[in-house]
Amino acid sequence: ELRRIPHPPGRVPLLGDVFGANVSTPVQDSMRFARSLGPIFRRKAFTKEIVFVAGARLGADMADESRFAKHVGLGVANLRPVAGDGLFTAYNHEPNWQLAHDILAPGFNRDAMAGYHRLMLDVAARLTERWDERERAGVAVDVPGDMTKLTLETIARTGFGHDFGSFERERPHPFVTAMVGTLAFAQRRNVVPGALAPLLLREASRRNDADMAYLNRTVDEVVAARRAESGGGELNDLLDRMLEVAHPETGERLTAENIRRQVITFLVAGHETTSGALSFALHYLARHPDVLARAQDEVDRVWAGKDEPAYEDVAKLRYLRRVLDESLRLWPTAPAFAREARQDTELGGEHPMRRGAWALVLTMMLHRDPEAWGPDPEAFDPDRFDPKAVRSRPAHVFKPFGTGARACIGRQFALHEATLVLGLLLRRYDLHGDPEYRLRVAERLTLMPEGLTLNLSRRATLD
Ligand code: HEM
Repeated sequence: ELRRIPHPPGRVPLLGDVFGANVSTPVQDSMRFARSLGPIFRRKAFTKEIVFVAGARLGADMADESRFAKHVGLGVANLRPVAGDGLFTAYNHEPNWQLAHDILAPGFNRDAMAGYHRLMLDVAARLTERWDERERAGVAVDVPGDMTKLTLETIARTGFGHDFGSFERERPHPFVTAMVGTLAFAQRRNVVPGALAPLLLREASRRNDADMAYLNRTVDEVVAARRAESGGGELNDLLDRMLEVAHPETGERLTAENIRRQVITFLVAGHETTSGALSFALHYLARHPDVLARAQDEVDRVWAGKDEPAYEDVAKLRYLRRVLDESLRLWPTAPAFAREARQDTELGGEHPMRRGAWALVLTMMLHRDPEAWGPDPEAFDPDRFDPKAVRSRPAHVFKPFGTGARACIGRQFALHEATLVLGLLLRRYDLHGDPEYRLRVAERLTLMPEGLTLNLSRRATLD
């Protein structure tokens, strides 16, 4: 039934849809194709054909867990050599998914989150120290670079008691460089068929092996350091849970090999996408002085008289949270997720799918469908997330954290961290973007603004 689904014009035998395809921007190419081809379309690279879902109605239908489930394919499958049966890359049927999910989920409940708050504040203080220096020197800050330092330190310290020392170095930590290498490699593997990979990606593949070895080595050191500590058994962080906790019903534990996979998974999934989300939000705040002023006014009011916000104070920043949601609507930093049919079914009542058939949901197009979001979906407007507007929209059309049983386990963690940091930054600085800057988005499975810098000035109210 693929024949009824449109594809780009000018398909080339053997090669597929090469026109308009750029290996370094597959997501943005797909956005363009969605605009001309509609809510469902297909693209072919060599022999591999992928169905994309870009419309809100079809995307919402794929959220039906009784008919669809996560599909481990493309970029996610390509990360299996690094992340194995870790939570993000596990197949639905692998027993380690449920085991790790049940052991780790309490690491994200309210009590656990409240415990991470103190460490999140400490890391944010390192960021503002650095930004104060830049401000005094009149030098612009590198937003994605510094947000990555912040989010890596946050997940490393809260989850694993580890300090990468990111703020003590100018360049990214080698862990980040190796991670970006493996993500970019996994993205490139999407368009190169397995049979041609040894030929076309020989050099890249060798570098990827070195990157993976570095990630493994780093993680093994983090785990060894914890094992060497005399076991306090306080179950305070994710690593404690991985090492010490048995499944409440079966008594089973994670194996050493699986723990290695989970630590890599959480160090990567736990910082890269949050860093992008913070960066896009800061870009839009700098671009929209009215939004910035309103968000600053909220922070000043809600956190008035407090040196440091308490855990409960973060969720009170309702408007700032809408700014974050609106940024994740336009640029969901994990830009797609794949869904497979659990049984023979019809997508949207019109596209037959056999059991096991799958499609890729293009999240940012689901988020920009005028049917769900109104006539001007490209405009940045946080008021789309005020409660009345949310109630007036169909369900399942906002999915930056994926959907169903395999949705993001770190959602609350990311939202708390990002809202806290944005609140602290807006309370302290005015943001001045370069008026010449045009948003460019770099892709490495995740999305990140490229070349985004901001100038800062300390706000008078704080002196
Ligand atoms: C899964 C997005 C932050 C850990 C996912 C998925 C999405 C996502 C879309 C589902 C992927 C799929 O269906 O294939 C995001 C975004 C974040 C974020 C946009 C930040 C703004 C985090 C954080 C952590 C985390 C902070 C950990 C502390 C995970 C894990 C999974 C996951 C472990 C796999 C869950 C499972 O399959 O059981 N995330 N995430 N993420 N995320 Fe996040």
